[in-house]
Amino acid sequence: MAVLGSAGRLIQFARSSVSLSVRSRSTAAAFAQTPDLQDNRKPKTGILMLNMGGPEKLSDVHDFLRRLFMDTDLIQLPVQNSARSSLDDGLQRSRSSTVRSGGGSPIKHWTSMQGEGMVKLLDEMSPDTAPHKFYIGFRYVHPLTEEAIEEMEKDGVERAVAFTQYPQYSCSTTGSSLNAIYRYYSNRVDSPKMRWSVIDRWPTHPLLVECFAEHVKNELLKFPEDKRDDVVILFSAHSLPMAVVNRGDPYPQEVGATVQRVMERLGHCNPYRLVWQSRVGPMQWLGPQTDDVIKGLCERGKKNILLVPIAFTSDHIETLHELDIEYGQVLGQECGVENIRRAESLNGNPLFMQALADLVNSHLKSNMSCSRQLTLRCPMCTNPTCGETKAFFANQTLS
Ligand code: FES
Repeated sequence: MAVLGSAGRLIQFARSSVSLSVRSRSTAAAFAQTPDLQDNRKPKTGILMLNMGGPEKLSDVHDFLRRLFMDTDLIQLPVQNSARSSLDDGLQRSRSSTVRSGGGSPIKHWTSMQGEGMVKLLDEMSPDTAPHKFYIGFRYVHPLTEEAIEEMEKDGVERAVAFTQYPQYSCSTTGSSLNAIYRYYSNRVDSPKMRWSVIDRWPTHPLLVECFAEHVKNELLKFPEDKRDDVVILFSAHSLPMAVVNRGDPYPQEVGATVQRVMERLGHCNPYRLVWQSRVGPMQWLGPQTDDVIKGLCERGKKNILLVPIAFTSDHIETLHELDIEYGQVLGQECGVENIRRAESLNGNPLFMQALADLVNSHLKSNMSCSRQLTLRCPMCTNPTCGETKAFFANQTLS
């Protein structure tokens, strides 16, 4: 049931991830400057930065989609013919989009930059656990989570931290990455050489909230002064099928918590709503949908709108294509919007790197293998791996 919706949405994701052409001038420039990261020193602590990843070039798209369709934590039915034909259709569209624009997903670039900043700070903050080294573990493109774990083992890492780059937990994102780590070890005879723990959510971390508030304030200042008080702030997060929400996924509540803290930090300067984007297919998704809300606001005379991506920290398709092009340009024009802007993603903000370093530092000092919240399965979960993964992390001995 969720197959076609998830697949269709993620085909859109893949199609658009390789067609970043509009807001990508600065991204493309930064992409070309990706530093040669990290020296060859032997790390004591390895931080595995977990994310979905995105195709950087056309030849990545097929494998990206194939892995995504095979992810049973995301799509809980076998891949059916209809999904395969969606895959073919998505690939065809992705080819034409790519020919037109020639871009690629910037997520690896931004994650590398954030990781570099984070480990430099950590070496100063926590000499006892230094040297620190970051690793990138993507779910659907290289470097894959499994490849990163192999590299960590080869490097002789003693203490490993699985660090989700999604601030708000969903079983379809962070949960899928953690299940991949568990499966890696359950398929081997050897037990892990490293002691593992996990930072599984951080929706209200004060520096994360500060970063979002700073980016909202900066963007509000770009509205004409006489319109600024009239701006409606739309915090937009990736939606979920209601089938996922209704099994008890914590994501909607955690996204709401981030929004609440950011608005408190902003002193409730403007009216706002939490809205949900990227729905596809005929099934029910969590709403209200971002595009419907933009239309509805314009119809009611609220024509100054600030979009804030609140569930992704770095640019990728949902910001560069969906928010900037589909909503900001095309839909905004159709609706007769006066001003519609989008807050910058956190990308290379040094304060965000401090947030990441602070999260890892506090986590290492806490000596906790995971949050209490991670130990609870969704009340309607039917995926046995979830329970095994939670036990794997909860039972790690850290000292
Ligand atoms: S789907 Fe949430 S714990 Fe399994």
